Order: sequence, then structure tokens, then C-alpha cells
Amino acid sequence: MAGRSNVGKSSLLNRLARSHHLARTGRMPGKTTLANLYEIGTGGYFLDLPGYGYMQRGRDEATDSRAIAGRLLRRLGNISRMLLLVDSRRDILESDLQALSWFLSMGLPVSVVITKSDKLNRQEQSRIKMDWMAVLSRNPGVDLTPILVSSKNGDGMDLLSAKVSESLYG
Ligand code: GTP
Ligand code: MG
Repeated sequence: MAGRSNVGKSSLLNRLARSHHLARTGRMPGKTTLANLYEIGTGGYFLDLPGYGYMQRGRDEATDSRAIAGRLLRRLGNISRMLLLVDSRRDILESDLQALSWFLSMGLPVSVVITKSDKLNRQEQSRIKMDWMAVLSRNPGVDLTPILVSSKNGDGMDLLSAKVSESLYG
């Protein structure tokens, strides 16, 4: 999984793994600074990438982490699916669109996962979903419907788990 710093990657991983201390989470962006690989059962792994767009660390490091992620993804080879996490409370960001086209250009199947749905009311939820669907419909190779989730209250986790199982085990 990939996404901007603080979008909730590690929290979602913990929720998916039904554990609360597998991946370190934090209030400050940039908590995950290494790529972490977690074994999640027979033959499946989760890759928790450090967040992008964390500018406090400076441009060089941001560029570096992209290069590192690129090498890592190529070296690991058979990535079943890239979960691109985006924050439900933000408009669609240029950096998210760049990440999306970058993953698609590497030939990775991508699903967009909209995080922290508990922060929005129903109307706001459907709005951000519609906005993303409009973007996704212009990008072949990506799931057309984004998955809206909350690691806090568990919303959308069934859908996401099903997607993950399908990606890993067919
Ligand atoms: P980096 O490792 O810095 O890239 O961040 P990350 O994407 O791994 O985010 P992390 O899981 O550490 O979560 C960042 C903050 O968002 C923490 O304070 C979490 O408690 C909070 N958070 C994560 N998921 C949710 C959610 O679904 N709902 C709410 N309300 N808060 C969340
Ligand atoms: Mg993290």
C-alpha cells in the first residue's frame, strides 16, 4: 500500500491484519520511514511503503524515496495489487494523481482506497467517491470504484478484505 504521509496506511494495515501493533502509526506525518514487508498468511505479503509528499524532510529525500520505492517494486516483482490510499478530507491532490499514473505506468493493478471515512458525513462521503470515480474512469487499468474505509470504525473493511483476498489468492 502507498499514499501520502499520515493518510493512514499503517493503521489500515493493522486493521486488515486484525492487530493493533503490527505497524507503527503516528500523529505526525512521516512515521514510517522504511518500507516494511509483513507476512499475512500463506504466501501473502503486505508492503507498507513510507508516505510520499512529506516535504518537511526536504526535496532530496522525497525524490530518493520515490527512486527507492521504484527499485523495490521492480525487484519484488509480482505485486498482486497496489492499494493507493487517499485522504477523504482532501480534494484530489496532484501528488496522488502522479502516484496513480506512476503505478499504472509500471503496469501495477491499482485500487484507490479512500481513508478516514469516519470524519465525513454521508453526503461528503458520496461526493469524494464520485470525484474519484470521475478520475478513475479516465485511467484504464485501475478499479473504477474506490473503496471508502475507516480504520477507526471498520467501515468498508469487508469490501477491502475481499479485494485483498481476491488479489492474493484469485
Ligand atoms: P506515515 O507512516 O507517516 O506515512 O503515515 P501513515 O500513512 O502510515 O498513517 P498512520 O496509520 O500512522 O495514521 C496517521 C494518523 O491518522 C494517526 O493519528 C491515526 O490514528 C490516524 N488515522 C488513521 N486511520 C484513521 C481513520 O480511519 N480514522 C481516523 N479518524 N483517524 C485515522
Ligand atoms: Mg506508516
